[in-house]
Amino acid sequence: MTGFAAIAGDVNAGPSPAGEITGQGRVAVTRLTLTDFRNYAQARLNLDARSVVLAGANGAGKTNILEAVSFLAPGRGLRRAKLGEVTRTDAGTEAAPAGRSWAVAAEVDGPDGPVSLGTGLDPEPGTVRDRRVVRVDGQTEKAQAVLAEHIAVVWLTPQMDGLFIDGPGARRRFLDRLVYAADPAHAGRVSAYEQAMRERARLLSDHGPGADAAWLDALEATMAEKGMAVAWARRDMVGRLAAFIEAGAGPFPGAVLGLAGGPEAWLDDMPSLAAEEHLRNRLAQERGADAQDGRTRTGPHRTDLEVRHAAKKREAALCSTGEQKALLIALVLAHARMRAVERGACPVLLLDEVAAHLDQDRRIALFDLIDGLNAQAWMTGTDPELFAGMRDRAQFFQVADGAVSAPETS
Ligand SMILES: Nc1ncnc2c1ncn2[C@@H]1O[C@H](COP(=O)(O)OP(=O)(O)OP(=O)(O)O)[C@@H](O)[C@H]1O
Ligand SMILES: [Mg+2]
Repeated sequence: MTGFAAIAGDVNAGPSPAGEITGQGRVAVTRLTLTDFRNYAQARLNLDARSVVLAGANGAGKTNILEAVSFLAPGRGLRRAKLGEVTRTDAGTEAAPAGRSWAVAAEVDGPDGPVSLGTGLDPEPGTVRDRRVVRVDGQTEKAQAVLAEHIAVVWLTPQMDGLFIDGPGARRRFLDRLVYAADPAHAGRVSAYEQAMRERARLLSDHGPGADAAWLDALEATMAEKGMAVAWARRDMVGRLAAFIEAGAGPFPGAVLGLAGGPEAWLDDMPSLAAEEHLRNRLAQERGADAQDGRTRTGPHRTDLEVRHAAKKREAALCSTGEQKALLIALVLAHARMRAVERGACPVLLLDEVAAHLDQDRRIALFDLIDGLNAQAWMTGTDPELFAGMRDRAQFFQVADGAVSAPETS
């Protein structure tokens, strides 16, 4: 145990993994209403703070409900969908009829007490791009980021099974999501950086390295400022998470995290301002080369999250399928535990089809860990029997053809 404290102390003076999970109570969704959301015309779940089990056949609408919960946090939701795709379409049609737009409303027991959250596709026509509206206690808010004051949501989906084998982009996005579950401003930094990068690339492709120098200077200054802020926040997250992830939890293995390929490592050797200056100089020097091959060779858009299985001392991509899945669960649980200790409130966990891949012992261990975190977890599966170990600790729903009901026996 002493090792823990020492590591936590080195990385960050913040809370250690041995810290108590105290806090008011559990952050939980206590009512969820969907309107014209994917295959639901209208659905309502009345809930208490316990975890939620959704059982039903393939295609019934289980993941759609998790996606609806994911829209209670800022961002694009767990499918990274275009907003317009989410609106319910009629059978045999590809687009929703004019005038129909999706909405999700929820009552949430947040860290500061109960709050009503509402979000959906802006029904006002005339905007060029689809816009997501956000309401908190009935007041329309300008920025989605305010949602993060009331709820954080983290998810694991079957699409993430290949995370350690896929390209670095998916791992980078996974890390960025962990960062902005704790620091909502991170999303804005990432998109400001990417927007400046795209504009610089367009300028270089249209006019070559001799393009308007003042314009390029300004874009590169933005990229350097936002980019190093992104890098700093990622490095800080990985540093804080290290102490929580290194030992693992129950049957879920420990991991060692690292960042490679981007400018995060510069921050080991120089202060932030110097690193910002360094990135700006690099971008200026590389205009010619970047123009030539139509890419941006340096910056935080190149960063990869490296994950190693601590006990096996092996990189995650070389671990077995089951080990990779267990590592991913371990990462999400470690992050949840870190947030619970830091903030006294655990994110809501969306675990899509996670139970089916675990043997009985691991499944029970997962349920126990979720309870220990004081988390509301939403879990799906085709067979409710998978969740027998959760019988008294969760509320069960049956999902069929776009309707949700509490089963007669649970
Ligand atoms: N915009 C939409 N309008 C109407 N239906 C939609 C829309 N988008 C998706 N669907 C449908 O919703 C249905 C349920 O999808 P969902 O992914 O929630 O199923 P699931 O219960 O998670 O199934 P599985 O067990 O296979 O993962 C699918 O048949 C899908 O085609
Ligand atoms: Mg599904």
